[in-house]
This record gives sequence, C-alpha cells and structure tokens, in this order.
Amino acid sequence: MNNYVHDIPTKICFGKGSISYLKQSLQQFGNRVLMTYGGGSVKKSGLYDEILKILNDEFEIFELSGIEPNPRISSVIKGVEICKENDIDVILAVGGGSTIDCSKAIACGVYYEGDDLWDMITHYEKDRKALPLIDILTLSATGSEYDNSAVISNPDTNEKIGAVLTFPSVSICDPTYTFSVSKYQTASGSIDIMSHIMEGYFSVTDDSDLYDGIAETVLKSVIKNMPIALEQPDNYSARANLMADASIACSGIPEYGKEVGSWPCHAMEHELSAYYDITHGVGLAILTPRWMRHIVEKDPSCKWRFVRFARNVWGLEGNDEDELVKAGIDALEDFFRKSGVPMSLSELNIDETNFKAMAAHANRNGKLERGFVPIREEDIEAIYTACL
Ligand code: NZQ
Ligand code: ZN
Repeated sequence: MNNYVHDIPTKICFGKGSISYLKQSLQQFGNRVLMTYGGGSVKKSGLYDEILKILNDEFEIFELSGIEPNPRISSVIKGVEICKENDIDVILAVGGGSTIDCSKAIACGVYYEGDDLWDMITHYEKDRKALPLIDILTLSATGSEYDNSAVISNPDTNEKIGAVLTFPSVSICDPTYTFSVSKYQTASGSIDIMSHIMEGYFSVTDDSDLYDGIAETVLKSVIKNMPIALEQPDNYSARANLMADASIACSGIPEYGKEVGSWPCHAMEHELSAYYDITHGVGLAILTPRWMRHIVEKDPSCKWRFVRFARNVWGLEGNDEDELVKAGIDALEDFFRKSGVPMSLSELNIDETNFKAMAAHANRNGKLERGFVPIREEDIEAIYTACL
C-alpha cells in the first residue's frame, strides 16, 4: 500500500433542504456575490428564484449566466472582469460541473498576474490564490464540488485542459435539485462517476484493500441506482446515492494507497470533446470498453484486475479467467448501452480525420506511457478506431 495525504478542505452540506446553509456559508466571506449558472435549467427548476429569495435583502448579487457545457475560456474572462469591476467577495456557482469548473477558474483568475488567462489553465501552479467559492450542485457527475480541478475548453486551439485550481469552500448537495436532470445527462453523469472510479481502480497495486473496497462499492451503487433514476427521476434515494457517489468518486479517496497513472480514458475523452464538443460521459462510455479490450490484449499480465472487477463489481462467477475478463467488460458495455447513450463515434458523426492529432495531444509529455498498462500514440489511435 502506497503513502497518501488526505487533504480536502471542502465542507459538504448534503441532503434535502441543505440550502439552509447557504446564507451563513456566504456571510463568512462578505456580501458582494457573483452568482454563476449555465443555460437556464436553474431558472426552469425554480432554484434561481429560491436563491434570490434567500439572499436578496442582505447581499448584493451580480450574475454571470450562459456558462456552456464544456465551459470556455471566454466565460472565464467575462467572470473575472465582473469580479474585478465590482469588487466581488465570494462566488456562488449554481449548476453542474461546467458551472463549478468555470467558477473555479474565475476565482483564481481574479488574482492571476499574467496577461492571458489561458496560460493560467495550461500551466500548473501550486496553492493558487483564489476568491472563496461556494456551490449549489444540480447534477451528479464530475465531483467538481469536492475536488480542486477545473476543465476548461479553448475552441481556438481545439484544447480542453484539466487544471488544478481551487477547492470550493462549501458545497450544498441537495439531491432534489437533480430530479429535473434529463435521462441523457443522468446517464452520462453516472458513467462519468464510474469512470472516475475505474481510472484509479485499474492499478498495479493489489493491497490497498480499504480503497479498492470503496471503489467497488461506488461502482455497485451506480449500477443499482442509475437505472432507478432513469425510470423514476424523482426517486430521492436513487438521486441521493448518485450524488454521494459523485462526490467521492473524483475526490482521490478511492485511489489512496494505489499506484495511479494519468487517467487514460479521460485524457482520450477530453480530446474528443475539445474537437467535437460532445458530452463528457458519452465519450467515456464509448472509449472505456474499447480501452479495456485493447490493454488486456496488449499486456495480458493485467488480467487479474479484470477478474476481480468481474467478480466483485458484477458478481460474475466461474473459474475460467479469460471468460471472466471478457464477461466483466461486456457487462460494463451492456450497462452503458442500456442507459441509452450513443456507443460509437459514428453515431456522433465523428470520423478518423483528427485521430492522429488527438492521440498526440492526449499523450503530450508521454503522460499515458505511465500507468496500469502504458499506452502510446499508436495504441490511442487504435482505440479511437475501435470506437468508430
Ligand atoms: O446549462 P444548464 O441550463 O444549467 O443545463 C445543464 C447542461 O445543459 C444541464 N443541467 C445541469 N443541472 C441540471 C440540468 N438540467 C436540468 N436539471 C438540472 N438540475 O445539464 C447539462 C450538462 O451540464 P454540465 O455542467 O456540463 O455537466 P457535468 O456536471 O457533467 O459537467 C461536465 C463538465 O465537467 C468536466 C467535463 O469535462 C465537462 O466539461 N469535468 C470536470 C471534472 C472536475 N472538475 O473534476 C472532472 C470530470 O472528469 C470532467 O472532466
Ligand atoms: Zn470525468
């Protein structure tokens, strides 16, 4: 078991009615608030009005709306301008991962000293200074409410980059706010949660028992609860479990004690959404089973992990290890397919035109050559091709 440091400063207020923590959470930082949100789901659901009702008298509220799924650097620039012009004390992000990620970049951008905010995204810096950030989560998926990453897109350069920026101070996680999430986003968010687990679960370390157990439990929870949420969007128990799963899955906790590489499926997916602006979880659904089959063939010594995956996650039985490996991957692919998301790149009208450039960028600095089964550019191109 490897060393690790547990250091997550975010306070999570979880459950129905936890918006009651909003006022006190903001008050500790001041009364000039930048509220950020996406394309309008918060207005449709009534959450926007509920927030204004709670805050109106005591806070001065400024707004940045229209944050895109796969949020763009242009929205970050707008948000930084609003903060600087209005002397904002605290940011309140209301939405899914895109709104929270954009808000993290705004929070850091206010103190960034360079001329170009895109440079802030592409260059790592430890302990960045940031405005305080509070969020109200409306979609269970990315775990942005409980991590310090933000993924920002730059359409001018066809890049989508994950940067380490800042943790939220407080995340308000009320599962009832996810009742209105569409089937498509529920499925892709759930697939994203599973992927966050699988990126670390498939590791060479075989003795981090607690954290492998947490990882398997999260996967089983999504396998149980996603189909219920798809059938009954207002099933509190299913939505609550998915929300709890999401926060822990991307927190790093399920990877503690393990050797973890550079999250290959995420690296390959971010290229797809950088070039084609697709939904993150859908890209992961298409890539993951193909990545699995590719690495098992490339390095059969990794099969023991897939045997464990088949037995402990899918409850499959039998002693034929090759059969178990195959059946576990097939079960995952089948689960994704049944959720209704597209399962090939052709369905998204994506062809091989950009595979070479995408593979090179996914493996910049040789980052995918470290990990469970190292892959190179030719492997990545082969995986993309298998996804067609
Ligand atoms: O924009 P609005 O109108 O709010 O609609 C959104 C959007 O269209 C809608 N939505 C959100 N909450 C809703 C709702 N619709 C109805 N009812 C609600 N309660 O859902 C759509 C997708 O929202 P988005 O925020 O884009 O989804 P998600 O949370 O999946 O975030 C995806 C982004 O996060 C990045 C992804 O790459 C992508 O850019 N990631 C961030 C990570 C992180 N910070 O750690 C890690 C992840 O691996 C991921 O890369
Ligand atoms: Zn993800």
